[in-house]
Amino acid sequence: MPRSFTEIVDFTTDEIYEVFDLCRRMKSGEINPKPLADKSVACIFTKSSLRTRVSFEVGINQLGGDALYITDREIQLGVRESVYDAAKVLSRYVGMIVIRTFAHSDVTGLAQHADVPVVNGLTDLVHPCQVMGDYFTVLEHKKEKKFKIAFLGDGNNVANSWLNLASRISMDLRIGTAPETPPDAALLERARANKDSSVLITDDPKEAIRDADVIYTDVWASMGQKDQAKEKEELLRKFQVNSALLVGAAADCVVMHCLPAERGREITDEVMDGPHSVVFDEAENRLHIQKAIMTFLLEQ
Ligand code: CP
Ligand code: NVA
Repeated sequence: MPRSFTEIVDFTTDEIYEVFDLCRRMKSGEINPKPLADKSVACIFTKSSLRTRVSFEVGINQLGGDALYITDREIQLGVRESVYDAAKVLSRYVGMIVIRTFAHSDVTGLAQHADVPVVNGLTDLVHPCQVMGDYFTVLEHKKEKKFKIAFLGDGNNVANSWLNLASRISMDLRIGTAPETPPDAALLERARANKDSSVLITDDPKEAIRDADVIYTDVWASMGQKDQAKEKEELLRKFQVNSALLVGAAADCVVMHCLPAERGREITDEVMDGPHSVVFDEAENRLHIQKAIMTFLLEQ
């Protein structure tokens, strides 16, 4: 079975740092590999996307390959045909599959049955490429140490990927969220099993943010849950990343958001456009990290 990247814990700690090193060397232009030369990549998107779609397509082209954008209209994974059959058929045409969808089990199912690597471009459970690029961005801005990372807001796929990273990389992770919007319990347990990391779940935003090096937020209502927007806004209002809250963080903190942002809800303009914000570096690094992840998988 080829190596796939369905969640961050598919990589060991050493492999994560190998990918960061590849990313750094590709971004600086030191290396320019073409592991996708003469190959096509099926990019299946059953949810909307700006960053993930465009950065994968551009990255695939830069690695010498050809990206095929496929929506759910065409494949209807698990409906028109089984995940198994789709995996086997796609593997006869393409050298890699990138997929963004709802059910995480569709991605692990594809990875289990495909004869080519599968890369997760976001599921309801996790967003692994995002948080790999995010940590790479933190390393570009700060000297590495055991960072204090405060995630504020909905305990959804992005928060879950921070938990996965805490399973592999030592950090002090605080997730500030409402009792009704916690992250995934199994991923939390796995992160807590890494005794080099500490993981706190709190409904006190000030406790979460205290002396934090990194402040992170995400939309309060994710794709597929927009019908809960009003309810989530009420639950999460006090976790808004604004300049009053930022006073409790480290003086040299960086502020991150996976984007798209709902400005004025989970983050204010003055913070998003302020001196601590690295949101657009973060967005750029999606391109570099995904090129590194694809290259790493194709080298295995
Ligand atoms: N951050 C992110 O994945 O953005 P898109 O949903 O636009 O791809
Ligand atoms: N949690 C968000 C992330 C978007 C990149 C969502 O799933 O919609």
